[in-house]
Amino acid sequence: MPSLAVIGAQWGDEGKGKVVDLLSESFDVVARFQGGPNAGHTVTIGGVRHALHHIPAGVFRPGVTIVIGNGMVLDLEKLQEEIEALERAGLQLAGRLFISDRAHVILPLMRQLDQWAESQSHAGIKLGTTLRGIGPTYEAKAARVGVRVADLFEARTLLPALERLLASPLACGLRAAGEDPGEPAALAREIQRRAARIAPYVTDTVSLLNERLDRGDEILFEGAQGSLLDIDHGFYPYVTSSTTLAGGLCGGLGISPKRVDAVLGVFKAYCTRVGSGPMPTELADGPHGHGERLRRRGREYGTTTGRPRRCGWFDGVAAAYAQRLNRFDCACVTLLDVLDGFEEVRVCVAYRLDGQELRVPPPTAATAERVEPVYETLPGWRGPIGHLRRWEELPREARAYLDRLAELIGTEVDMVSVGPDRAQSILRSGSWLARRLGRDVKA
Ligand code: GDP
Ligand code: IMO
Ligand code: MG
Repeated sequence: MPSLAVIGAQWGDEGKGKVVDLLSESFDVVARFQGGPNAGHTVTIGGVRHALHHIPAGVFRPGVTIVIGNGMVLDLEKLQEEIEALERAGLQLAGRLFISDRAHVILPLMRQLDQWAESQSHAGIKLGTTLRGIGPTYEAKAARVGVRVADLFEARTLLPALERLLASPLACGLRAAGEDPGEPAALAREIQRRAARIAPYVTDTVSLLNERLDRGDEILFEGAQGSLLDIDHGFYPYVTSSTTLAGGLCGGLGISPKRVDAVLGVFKAYCTRVGSGPMPTELADGPHGHGERLRRRGREYGTTTGRPRRCGWFDGVAAAYAQRLNRFDCACVTLLDVLDGFEEVRVCVAYRLDGQELRVPPPTAATAERVEPVYETLPGWRGPIGHLRRWEELPREARAYLDRLAELIGTEVDMVSVGPDRAQSILRSGSWLARRLGRDVKA
């Protein structure tokens, strides 16, 4: 299939990294289109765990070209560390990693702004961001005072760009808060030093991607964060600052919607969320409750910040909403093994609010905080299932659970992940995905 988007369908950390690594075997290019080092995408191969923050998870397939798109925001220091860690692991990046010359750069003052905003609590609202400077960098982009990768290499544009940024309301706000946003010439020197390290990878990725598609190459688009963290469609303001949906990839990579062939949604078998904001199915049921059991079994601690993730049952209302926003052709359900040994599993089929049943999330976070999940209970399975590789081998109850998730989402479940390792994956033979890939996915 010429192009496929892999999109997080919940609140992030659905296992996109694992799915992209697995599927990228069947593609020529893997391109990321939004977010930055707020993302933490884990890939485990033969028991070795790799955490990626900027670099697309196709990087572990030697012949695959990897692209950091124009819609992303880059922390040059962290990006360099990531490149070096991958090179130490024996991966060759020269000639196959490409960084957009239009991507925006996260500057120290953006991280300061993020940290300052998070240290305040206005009207009781604290977003619980990753503190990576993501929001302020997208703010600068929208305010047209941002610094882009191409600026780093032109002395004539970098200094004026920094002067504008440092005279902008963003920088003034930081000064008013008693913080020092820095001084243009010193910042320029520091940035150019870092820029030299990424220079070999920088290119016009819009031309690259479109020319590869013209040539008949197949591209996998890697989403970051999740549909319920989307700037427009998540529980605003408890969202990230970019468009996390399939629709966001066109702007974030410079690709026409006509060139996006298919969309795959990645769902955890339950829900997690890191950071603040509504999560209707959250299980805050104490140290011996189901929430803690999910956290322990799923090792639910943030890949980027190490924060414990909030855990709860699968939210069918949020899932159907993600399906509406992305029109997934199929779903992949990850971390199914985490539910092994639960006597019963629950799924939320509606929200109840003031005596009424809702099938769509309400528009404000304040109302979303008040909804009560309406649950359906299904029998659990004993497990373990982590060693299984065929759909038919899954316990009957696990298959019934997946069938119910498929109904709630509104699309078929074609792939299941039963453990973190690349090998612990089941592609349903005869499914839409297996047919479209044209081959079984080999681990
Ligand atoms: P991403 O941000 O969507 O790429 O997901 P993360 O990597 O942040 O979080 C997913 C976590 O679950 C990682 O620690 C993965 O190694 C792990 N993981 C992925 N799939 C499975 C699975 O099927 N079972 C288990 N137990 N862990 C998984
Ligand atoms: P991946 O790609 C889970 C959350 C933060 C916070 C909100 C805003 O690994 O799925 P930000 O720093 O983006 O301004 O924070 O979004 N968040 C994520 N949660 N996975 C992620 O990425 C996330 N990226 C941001 O916790 O609630
Ligand atoms: Mg993650």
